[in-house]
Amino acid sequence: MRTLSANLFAVLLMCALAGVFYVWSALESRLERQKRSFPAPDGGLFHRGLPEDPSTKTFRALLAVPAPQRPAQNLSSQAASAGSRNYHVKEDNKKRSARREGPVTTSVNPVDNRIFWSDWLEDLFPVGFTQEHALAWRNKGRTSRVVRLERGCGRTSNQLATFADGTKACVRYGINADQVQGETLTYYFASVLGITNLPPLVLSQLSRHGEQWAAVRTRIDSLQWSDGTVVSLTEWISNLSGVVAPAPLRQESGGLHPLLQGLSNKTTAELLELMQWTDLILLDYLTANFDRLVSNLFSLQWDSRVMERETNNLLKTPHGDLVFIDNEAGLVHGFRVLNMWEKYHSSVLSSVCVFRKRTARRVAELHARRDARQRLLELYRDSEPLSQELGFLSDEHAVVLQERISTLHKHILHCKERYSEL
Ligand SMILES: Nc1ncnc2c1ncn2[C@@H]1O[C@H](COP(=O)(O)OP(=O)(O)OP(=O)(O)O)[C@@H](O)[C@H]1O
Ligand SMILES: [Mg+2]
Repeated sequence: MRTLSANLFAVLLMCALAGVFYVWSALESRLERQKRSFPAPDGGLFHRGLPEDPSTKTFRALLAVPAPQRPAQNLSSQAASAGSRNYHVKEDNKKRSARREGPVTTSVNPVDNRIFWSDWLEDLFPVGFTQEHALAWRNKGRTSRVVRLERGCGRTSNQLATFADGTKACVRYGINADQVQGETLTYYFASVLGITNLPPLVLSQLSRHGEQWAAVRTRIDSLQWSDGTVVSLTEWISNLSGVVAPAPLRQESGGLHPLLQGLSNKTTAELLELMQWTDLILLDYLTANFDRLVSNLFSLQWDSRVMERETNNLLKTPHGDLVFIDNEAGLVHGFRVLNMWEKYHSSVLSSVCVFRKRTARRVAELHARRDARQRLLELYRDSEPLSQELGFLSDEHAVVLQERISTLHKHILHCKERYSEL
């Protein structure tokens, strides 16, 4: 009887251990897949203080709601009228770099007109990817032969492509149409806003026998990529490094506003980076992109030091120009899961009360004319020959976009009122 009990106990123990091992392995592979961190007991949204886990990023995939597959929306039936496109500032980049890498600013006010970054800072603002550059790169990306496809752009569904001339691009093969649409439409919407921090993007239709893809046919087969799928190609930028959110934008700081202590003591380079952050926050709010600062805010619940880590999907050139990569959560998927993320979007937006004049002006125009959908559609359709194949925002999402523009516009007015004494 005793032997029987001992055997029974041993069997039960082994089952329990196997169960724990199974659950642990599943959890670990899920976390590995999503490059995520472990929960921390400190739950508060705005707390800090746990040991660092460098693998921490976001919980996007855990929370994302799978998108239904749907046919691309036909663009030809959608209205469009003239809209301005030449948004890019043209000033000598070298001259700007020399000036902005100069000494610490002292007496000059970084903010004027209550809530706007001063003109002297605007004069030094990095030009980013100019329209000319983007146009030239898109033409090249559309016509160049891909000679190699390999890892190097994140998940396996994103591949690093080498063109025949040796230059590179990141290819995104969306798991569903939302991802490539989100990436592409966010790129063009940033252009409507005059934000030039996104690397040039072009669409391509996979064809194992077509000239562009034939040399990597075997790799395409092994990736199980289907012929006819529309993928995006984004210019690959060398020498990029990670970016940690600046102190005023970490939630415990009380936000970035004109009265922020120490703002005038910041270096020119720090101010220029802050300016780019304010554009980023506006863009991510409008497109409901949760996969950058917003997901950090969310992750604060279990990782109190997440704000001290590099921000997901944001990189920086050696000159300090921010590069907004991986915008696939924007506009389409972001709008689909808005209920889940809205309070975090609002929280991040409310932490900013200083803006670039030009961006605020664009927002005011889009608000007054209520033509965001039309402007975006027109730019996208005119610039991208495969726009028909990939499709556009649904009518419902176009309404959401216009509403977000209105909310942002009101927020800017509210900031103006609040800091009217300046
Ligand atoms: N345009 C680019 N230029 C240079 N490097 C890039 C570019 N796009 C992506 N990368 C590199 O690939 C990494 C992953 O990119 P991306 O975020 O697009 O893919 P991902 O699959 O979403 O990865 P993650 O889950 O890490 O966010 C980046 O951190 C960067 O190192
Ligand atoms: Mg990413």
